Amino acid sequence: MKITIAPSILAGNHANLEASMDRVIRSGARWLHIDAMDGHFVPHFAFGSQTVRALATGKKNLFFDVHLMLSHPEYFVESFAKEGADLISIHLESKAPLEKTLRHIKQMGKQAGIAINPETSVEKVFPLIDAVDLVLIMGVNPGLCGQKFIENTLEKIEMLRGCHGAVKIEVDGGINLENAKLCIQRGADIVTAGTAFFAAQDPRKFVEQVEYE
Ligand code: DX5
Ligand code: ZN
Repeated sequence: MKITIAPSILAGNHANLEASMDRVIRSGARWLHIDAMDGHFVPHFAFGSQTVRALATGKKNLFFDVHLMLSHPEYFVESFAKEGADLISIHLESKAPLEKTLRHIKQMGKQAGIAINPETSVEKVFPLIDAVDLVLIMGVNPGLCGQKFIENTLEKIEMLRGCHGAVKIEVDGGINLENAKLCIQRGADIVTAGTAFFAAQDPRKFVEQVEYE
């Protein structure tokens, strides 16, 4: 079971996150993807570190994969780390001092990720590879669930895998059962799924279909 699925709670029920967490735990998924949005880096708002803390009370063995879509993630990594994040990804397009912020995440004992938007070429992460555990490749423009997967994401995954065999690759946005397979074939290790996971009739089967491909 080399592949991990990370259901994205952004596509869950915001009026009943407990029920959404329950669905994730029942599905057998080992990771939970939690998005933070500042209304500036992206045009919407989403979860803050207090939400991460609240979710952490029912965390069980779930690995919290926190994706910061923030213009200034450097001001917030500490609070997300303290409230229960296990991995924190910041965007290459943010205004953060990238290496310093990634180092800060690691100093707090967490895994560090660098995320890239669809229009950013994947080579831009190469100089940061030694500073990160994971590269998060967006399959859609960040900010909203339920968008259509951008096909050239597959080439970016393949190129990164070809040049850097060991780094973990996560793909996020627009994932369904069909394109999850293609992402995995090209070298992705972790696939995030929001809409497809929460719409699946049988979430356990959905997880198994992705992870045991
Ligand atoms: C989008 C977020 C994603 C989102 C994915 O900007 O970063 O994590 O929840 O949702 P789907 O899978 O519906 O595209
Ligand atoms: Zn995300």
